[in-house]
Amino acid sequence: MPRLGTFEAWRDAARALASNDIPADDIEWGMEGDTQSLFSGGASLPVPREMSVPSGFIPLAKLVCAHRAEGVHDLLYRMLLRCRGNSRLLGNRADAEVQQLEAWAKNVRRDMHKMKAFVRLREITPQGANRRQFISWFEPDHRIEELIACFFTRRFGDMDWVIVTPEVTTRFTGGDLAHKAVQSARLDLSDETEELWRTYYANIFNPARLKIKAMQSEMPKKYWKNLPEADLIPSLIAGAEARMRKMQDDAPTLPPIRAERILERLPARDVTDDLHACARCPIGAQATQAVGGVGPMDARVMIVGEQPGDREDLEGVPFVGPAGQLFDELAAEAGLDRAAAYITNAVKHFKFTPRGKRRIHQNPHTSEVAACRVWLEREIAQVQPAFLIALGATAAQTLTGNGSALMQRLGRVERGRERIPVLITLHPAAILRSDERETLRALLVRNLKQAAQMVEKLDAMPVGLPDM
Ligand code: URA
Repeated sequence: MPRLGTFEAWRDAARALASNDIPADDIEWGMEGDTQSLFSGGASLPVPREMSVPSGFIPLAKLVCAHRAEGVHDLLYRMLLRCRGNSRLLGNRADAEVQQLEAWAKNVRRDMHKMKAFVRLREITPQGANRRQFISWFEPDHRIEELIACFFTRRFGDMDWVIVTPEVTTRFTGGDLAHKAVQSARLDLSDETEELWRTYYANIFNPARLKIKAMQSEMPKKYWKNLPEADLIPSLIAGAEARMRKMQDDAPTLPPIRAERILERLPARDVTDDLHACARCPIGAQATQAVGGVGPMDARVMIVGEQPGDREDLEGVPFVGPAGQLFDELAAEAGLDRAAAYITNAVKHFKFTPRGKRRIHQNPHTSEVAACRVWLEREIAQVQPAFLIALGATAAQTLTGNGSALMQRLGRVERGRERIPVLITLHPAAILRSDERETLRALLVRNLKQAAQMVEKLDAMPVGLPDM
């Protein structure tokens, strides 16, 4: 069998042989490059005749052909002969040969699952390229490269990529997929999102939910060498107990039993459940309306700005004015799907001073941001994003509690107040106001690219990993 197209080659040969009633014992199957036996004479195949096989046989044979075990092609051929007279044979789980084929198919499926979960694409886009380019190294247990390729073309269809394995190089360029059987030594790859991903991983690691066995079976050690987060795992596990104790110590204590009833009897304060009636701070009295967030309620990413501007105040929708339009443009350039994100602000009302006919933006006061936090907390609790993007200092401070200088923190992922990681970046309005537009623009695009890569990695993450 050739290394590429193994299944198709086996299928064509098996059809020609089985339809001419050639017994299994007369055939010696082998992989190209294997040492030939004394008896192999390279006999040509007979002309195939009409024959039919049960519908479940072909999908099973595709998987089994990818298995590395000795004898897979032989047993498949025996099963093909047996199936001809018994279309229900594959459903007989008590049959030892059926069991063996199913077990092989299961190994291959599992290997494919691992490859989907643990391939890490590293960016290698050269300056000026019109499609982003990525490379990855992976060592599958079985010959699954061709079987799995369509998963990656679907998921990463808008970029060019190469996945290198020890035996096959799969290349996806400009929408065309090609496999080449070449021997490769392990590639050592890293890119600048690696640090971001490591910080993210350390943040989502929940010591209270640590299950080492489940974690190791989901992410066996053999895959660790290709994962940027892998070297964090031993220290995270080692520190898990201490972190858990700290979480317990930091947990709020329970209120006295009658506290709820006492609170009910207190006179109603100016706290309302309706954002549009909020009077927790004075800004609302001046603004046209409160502006809440927009976007899918199950978004993985939540983008947080400062406060609505003039246009947003009039339209009641965040990020529709000049800063919002610039943000959309830069997000598109960075490959971040803005429509898939939830976008909102730290403060829900527009704060301004009138100057002639114009309303001039004013920074919200710390007390106003604090008063408004309740609305943002509510949005975070509802959407439960996997990570947050803080646009500018106000969002960064309200999401992390850290008010230190923004410029030193750009591109960093910090632990958010609600334990959700926060990627810190610039506010697009800062670019509009700056003399160094190009520099700041490039910085924001770079951080948004980091965010887009985080989303890709999240999408490729095995289900349940963040719950460790
Ligand atoms: N700036 C923000 O921070 N938010 C908006 O909605 C618009 C401009």
